[in-house]
Amino acid sequence: MRNYDLEFLKRFSMVLAFLAAVTVGLILFAHHINGTVKHDPDPAAEQRVLNRIAPIGAVYAGATGAAQQAEAVKAAAEAAASQVAYGGTTDGKTIFGNLCTGCHTSGAGGAPKLDAAGIGARVAAQGLDELVKKATEGFTGSTGVMPAKGGNPALTDEQVKATVEWMVAQSK
Ligand code: HEC
Repeated sequence: MRNYDLEFLKRFSMVLAFLAAVTVGLILFAHHINGTVKHDPDPAAEQRVLNRIAPIGAVYAGATGAAQQAEAVKAAAEAAASQVAYGGTTDGKTIFGNLCTGCHTSGAGGAPKLDAAGIGARVAAQGLDELVKKATEGFTGSTGVMPAKGGNPALTDEQVKATVEWMVAQSK
């Protein structure tokens, strides 16, 4: 390599190094300035957040909307009612016919039948309250296992009580 080539390369790399240093300096400076400037929040992003955290059903659409809301509330109440066993009836016959009959009509698994020797004898020996309590909580007796609420926990205590009362009335 000739001498002036070397000289050129030396100067050229110095120029390159200088420019690289200036570039890095500008980057750092721009970064610094960017940090000092206060940015306005992006309105579109803010709107998206508001949409996401908005409560459901906060829209009021006049009389039509109100009617629709009332309908929705009614539908929700009906849906909730259907969570209650057998539509929440306290008709012992209905509940027995849907559930308890599986064991208590045939006497399956040692279940006392609806006659004087079955439920009739038990109510005579223990009283109605005790029968209701054991039917609600379930128990294991000498003849078998009576599941709590006949195995349907959706039954309310009143429904179980009404059903036991109906059973007792049938067992004379
Ligand atoms: C899976 C079968 C089964 C179903 C379903 C069932 N029972 Fe029973 N039940 C029994 C058995 C078995 C006994 C007797 C247990 C014993 O004394 O050993 C019994 C006993 C009873 C007794 C007598 C309690 C006592 O103190 O002697 C009552 C009251 C009763 N059941 C009410 C009900 C009612 C109400 C339902 C429906 C909601 C129901 N059972 C559903 C199996 C069942």
